[in-house]
Amino acid sequence: MEKKSFYITTPIYYPSAKLHIGHAYCTTIADAIARYKRLNGYDVFFLTGSDEHGQKIQQKAEEAGISPIEYVDKIVAGFQDLWKRLNISNDDFIRTTQKRHYDVVQEVFRRIYKKGDIYKGEYKGLYCTPCESFWLERQLVNGKCPDCGRPVKEVSEEAYFFKISKYADRLLEYIENNPEFIQPVSRRNEMINFIKQGLDDLCISRTSFSWGIPVPIDTKHVIYVWFDALTNYLTPIGFLDDQEKFKKYWPADLHLVGKEIVRFHTIIWPIILMALDLPLPRKVYGHGWLIVDGDKMSKSKGNVIDPIGLIDEFGADAIRYFLLREINLGQDGNFSRDALIARINSDLANDLGNLLHRTLNMIDKFNDGIIGEKAAVRDVDQNLIAEAEKTIRTYKELMDNMQLSDAIKLVWMFISRSNKYVDETAPWILGKDENRKSELNRVLYDLAESLRIVGILIFPFMPGTAQKIWKQLNIAEKIEDSSLKNLKWGDLPENMKVNKPVQLFPRIEIEEKQNSNKYIQTVKDDDSENVKKITADKDSVGLISIKDFSKVDLRVAEVKAVIPVPKTEKLLQLTVELDGKERTIVSGIAKFYTPEELVGKHVILVANLKPAKLRGILSQGMLLAASKGEKLKIVEVDMPVGSKVK
Ligand code: MSP
Repeated sequence: MEKKSFYITTPIYYPSAKLHIGHAYCTTIADAIARYKRLNGYDVFFLTGSDEHGQKIQQKAEEAGISPIEYVDKIVAGFQDLWKRLNISNDDFIRTTQKRHYDVVQEVFRRIYKKGDIYKGEYKGLYCTPCESFWLERQLVNGKCPDCGRPVKEVSEEAYFFKISKYADRLLEYIENNPEFIQPVSRRNEMINFIKQGLDDLCISRTSFSWGIPVPIDTKHVIYVWFDALTNYLTPIGFLDDQEKFKKYWPADLHLVGKEIVRFHTIIWPIILMALDLPLPRKVYGHGWLIVDGDKMSKSKGNVIDPIGLIDEFGADAIRYFLLREINLGQDGNFSRDALIARINSDLANDLGNLLHRTLNMIDKFNDGIIGEKAAVRDVDQNLIAEAEKTIRTYKELMDNMQLSDAIKLVWMFISRSNKYVDETAPWILGKDENRKSELNRVLYDLAESLRIVGILIFPFMPGTAQKIWKQLNIAEKIEDSSLKNLKWGDLPENMKVNKPVQLFPRIEIEEKQNSNKYIQTVKDDDSENVKKITADKDSVGLISIKDFSKVDLRVAEVKAVIPVPKTEKLLQLTVELDGKERTIVSGIAKFYTPEELVGKHVILVANLKPAKLRGILSQGMLLAASKGEKLKIVEVDMPVGSKVK
């Protein structure tokens, strides 16, 4: 059977300057989706490129004293280098200055003109050069461009117009009948309101500059850059020269775009397609913006982050992981170096790195590097297997729904579950007892199988890391392009030699003074909304008497249940049992433990700490933990509940 196709695009980027981490975010999302679809058996076409015409580029080139093409050639080479370093798997890279695109744009213009939907008139209006957008007086905000807030200028000239007003009702009907077309819903509602205010015909030609594609029937005009740019989506899939390919990939399954250009993609673009009698794209998704330490990136603020520097320092996969894990697709999200390092240390070096390392070490130590045979499954093994199967199912649902960050979180819950399985099954005890060889084999097989599956699930996000995992497991050649499609537990071969472990992610040591996550408990002042961190920096702690120390009631308690505190990254709400009673503890350890890992632990509780409200929850005590640098471990003791620590 022929594979189902999937056509995905990013916006084509302006080569007016180098790309920053925000642009890299957009392309990384598209890459993860493209890789996921391929892995799930689709025939994917993934397109990105550069939008090279327009007045702004012409001006920049003039300022630099070079021709526009020389100017863009250099910058676009930088785009391509960035995508290579970020391991982007695009199938084509379209440049609007290529002949293949020039031909398509002129043909599209000709067809729509012939149909009577393009006419000549006079343009009087307001133009924002940086955004390449025309505006009406009523659309301005404080007299400035509503998109970028910069001044607009009045222009008046002979121009060609596209009758988009004619299609407004049809477009509205389409949007209303196809709830999937514009996502997320908030953007869909914005667009519906925008169209309902009425659409004016669009000026699609300019005579005031020359850096563009000429109007085929009147070459003193160049075609409006958005009309030129949007058409890029038709060029590489054979619109003019390969009907079979075109039939296979059109309509596009997903145009992934930033929130501020949803309007172009859900109004102008569908109307161009309607005028061409072509089907409309299945989905336009408007993702949120990446902001830096809470601020919009801008040259004037000096906070524009160059992705190349980050890739050189931390590696492509760490950056990809952070961007995709940390930010919910439809919303704006924050980038900070500290948060990146914290994620690398806790999720990548600790959770994932440890699971791989300890698994391969144990296979080496107890079984001479051989994964044994699949011995009988016990209850403890079955629990892990059931969890793996559930993870695969839910992962696909989340990915199909574009909940990339949730899919990653789910995989990390499974990684924690597998780490817990090591503790539950204690292979170091099984390894010492010849009579328990088959149990040992079962455990080692299950751990290696978990890692094979984790590798496949993280491949869309971190392709390099997935390959490293498979290499260490010695199964790299067995992984196929569509490995996710039929992924199920138990396909890892038995009796196979694995390789020695190699570290996936080194821990990043940060200087002590930069480290703000030193201690676990965050409390609010009784009468203030401000959350204040309790730190126990050793230098600030003077000598105390034994009497002082004995005031602290330290007791062993058992963790019964744990849930995350909504809308926080750091806090968990624990229910612990002490003296036959349950208490609630809010603790800032969410970055270091998953809820499941904590349940059942015997921890040390400061039992007579004055209760404090955290995020509206009354916390009745505090857990002890040891912490150094970015590392933190809850103090656990193998003693009955209620024992006093002294
Ligand atoms: N050339 C047009 C797109 C034409 S598509 C037919 C364009 N180019 S752009 O270079 O200005 O922006 C490209 C994409 O980068 C947009 O989707 C925009 O939202 C995205 N981003 C720019 N800054 C961004 C962030 N800070 N964060 C996330 N995405 C950002 O618009």
